[in-house]
Amino acid sequence: MVKILAFSGSARQASFNQKLAAIAAKGAREAGAEVTLINLGDYPMPIINQDEHEAHGLPPKARELKQLLLEHDGLLIASPEYNSAFSPLLKNAIDWTSRTEREGESPLQAFNGKYAAIMSASPGALGGLRGLVFLRMLLQNINVTVLATQRAIGQAGSAFDEQGQLKDSKQQQAIEGIGAELAKTLAKLRD
Ligand code: FNR
Repeated sequence: MVKILAFSGSARQASFNQKLAAIAAKGAREAGAEVTLINLGDYPMPIINQDEHEAHGLPPKARELKQLLLEHDGLLIASPEYNSAFSPLLKNAIDWTSRTEREGESPLQAFNGKYAAIMSASPGALGGLRGLVFLRMLLQNINVTVLATQRAIGQAGSAFDEQGQLKDSKQQQAIEGIGAELAKTLAKLRD
């Protein structure tokens, strides 16, 4: 069974993007994948400092997150848009977990060769679409294949019901569909 790690780039308690990640995770599960849904807020780590990394390697929560990444084949990422880019929480987590341990230690790469699908939600009209441009570019630069299909949900303040599902059934299907597409793509690669 293919394994997918799902998360958002927000640790905000009522995060729209965390809800989106959960919906995509549901779609991926229904398409046969084993999905681990996490909250990056549970992996607190300092802002990366290269001297710290070179002296001490990864901080404990970064190492834990990197281990999780290594154990999964695909990534479902829902990212908020902050000033037209993706969030610093997401960037910092990627920066730490993309590093190897200190010289001579584990050379394992957490991202190399993985597949990902990306999405966003925002109260604004564009739904965070501009941030996805940067996220796609970053992921491809660390050798992650990003599915062409992506979705940005605008007017997010009124888009979700009390159960965290999208009120518009077409949007709900589209986000579940992104999870399903990633699951099926990974399954095909296994065959
Ligand atoms: C934002 N927000 C925002 N929204 C947007 O559509 N375009 C933008 O450029 C920005 N810029 C921005 C900068 C900063 C520093 C903050 C804190 C917020 C609003 C933001 O996308 C919105 O609050 C989302 O709901 C955040 O995502 P979560 O936490 O709901 O997942």
